[in-house]
Amino acid sequence: MSSYREKSIVFIGFMGSGKTTIGEQVAKKLYRDFVDIDEEIEKEYGMPVTDIFKVHGEEAFRSKEKELIKRYCERPLKIISVGGGAFMNEEIREVCLQNCIVFFLDLSFDAWKERLTLLLPSRPVLQGKSIEEIEELFYKRQGIYADHNSKFTTDHLDIDEVSDYLIESLKTSWDLYS
Ligand code: S3P
Repeated sequence: MSSYREKSIVFIGFMGSGKTTIGEQVAKKLYRDFVDIDEEIEKEYGMPVTDIFKVHGEEAFRSKEKELIKRYCERPLKIISVGGGAFMNEEIREVCLQNCIVFFLDLSFDAWKERLTLLLPSRPVLQGKSIEEIEELFYKRQGIYADHNSKFTTDHLDIDEVSDYLIESLKTSWDLYS
């Protein structure tokens, strides 16, 4: 078990909430390795997520997602971005919350909606759904993301502002708990 200061940090939140972009930035500023779980799954299958869903099915994707999250969460000093659906799995929630510091990147549905067209082609979970169904999924997932250590609302902030604020609050908690 790593010390509080060495714990890896996990970013959770709905698709397109900025987990990868902000995670990468935070990793750079803290001189830590960044791991994007979706990217690791894509490397293992040698194809993009949309194709994995088409060729191997969502179940295969979810099982690889769990295996990789467990592997990386047990290592110290990483910055990890997990896909928006990962936290729906209880085992994943437990492994993240037990080993890492979990940051929830939150944003309002109105702000999120503006990103929809950009996200649609690469997010199989959104495809074929009406905006009402997507909104329902968004709010259903909010309940699951409520299991976190810290929450950051990103609606009107840019990447640098969020990552700087996040690092400041992390440093405060390092001082408090270590
Ligand atoms: C998913 C989110 C995606 C990716 C996959 C499934 C989901 O990751 O893991 O398309 O179920 O919410 P991002 O949250 O990084 O978009």
